[in-house]
Amino acid sequence: MTPPQTVSPTTHDRVIVESFLGDGEHRTLADDVLDGLTRPFKELPPKHFYDAHGADLFDRICELPEYYPTRCERAILEQRSAEIVERTGAAELVELGSGTAAKTRLLLSAMHEAGTLNRYVPIDVTEGMVRDSAARLVEEFDGLRVHGIVGDFERHLGRVPEPVDGRPRIVAFLGGTIGNFTPGSRRRFLRGLSQLLGPDDFLLLGTDLVKDPAVLEAAYDDSAGVTAAFNRNVLTVLNRELDADFAVDAYEHVAFFDRDREWIEMRLRAQRPQRVTVGKLGLRLTFAAGEELRTEISAKFTPERISGDLAAAGMELVETLTDQDGLFALTLARIRAA
Ligand code: SAH
Ligand code: TRP
Repeated sequence: MTPPQTVSPTTHDRVIVESFLGDGEHRTLADDVLDGLTRPFKELPPKHFYDAHGADLFDRICELPEYYPTRCERAILEQRSAEIVERTGAAELVELGSGTAAKTRLLLSAMHEAGTLNRYVPIDVTEGMVRDSAARLVEEFDGLRVHGIVGDFERHLGRVPEPVDGRPRIVAFLGGTIGNFTPGSRRRFLRGLSQLLGPDDFLLLGTDLVKDPAVLEAAYDDSAGVTAAFNRNVLTVLNRELDADFAVDAYEHVAFFDRDREWIEMRLRAQRPQRVTVGKLGLRLTFAAGEELRTEISAKFTPERISGDLAAAGMELVETLTDQDGLFALTLARIRAA
């Protein structure tokens, strides 16, 4: 008997999805909670925001009037994708933190029109998004093959398949997600990423730019409260996955621009004293009234910071593209010739 199929065989032929997350991932969440929530200043890494509900909320954030980065990055891609594709000659697009791959289409489309499009390699921790985008994109683009990786881009870059016939690739890291690393880890990460790049490959890096703090803060604290819900959702993830008992509504969403460090910081502030038990870890925590848990930083860039980071990682800047208001930048870079 043939097993039930949810995709047509031809589609299936062109899609591979490999998952590198398993029990190990539970361990990572447990380790991050044990480590982060027992520090003198509590903190959690941002990748745990993105369960299925978190991914939906993030999609809504991208549509918010206050959240300009997505619109700006899309505008740059609408105007410049053809040029990027011509300049790189790319046959393949590798994308880190691909999400719904909404903007990615613009690049794939330009590659398709240039007649070079061969393969798309999305990498994301959220399995549903990798599978859904793979299924949709092979339908949309004739002959496109998708090799999806469900994994952590901090740990699984070694799982990215070799380029097809040694043809040039674009490795895209969009949405300003690079800003979610602290500066030291960011450089370490970029150095690791440069190991992935062959001499003909290009990095396409999306970075949000330093600007009026009021504009920045509104983007992370919208009037409809979607970002607040997204922020609190991480506590729901801990309640479900680690059998914790956070009173989610007791925590207030806080977002502010740190002018010295030039990053947005998001926190959750306990409005009253809290006692929390994390069942699976046998961990008891307390929050004083007003105590804050840091859930994310989102670094904002200047041209100097972008070129400095690339140089420190052994790369050189090829070109920086910005939107017409200069709010967001897309930078094309490659490994530095020896
Ligand atoms: N690239 C999309 C989504 C950005 S949101 C855009 O520009 O709109 C960040 C994405 O990165 C989410 O889809 C999230 O699931 C993914 N992500 C976050 N941390 C990750 C990690 N450590 N490894 C892999 N994916 C990660
Ligand atoms: N990479 C995105 C950014 O830093 C992620 C993001 C946008 C985000 N808005 C958010 C993460 C709100 C948490 C909460 O801009």
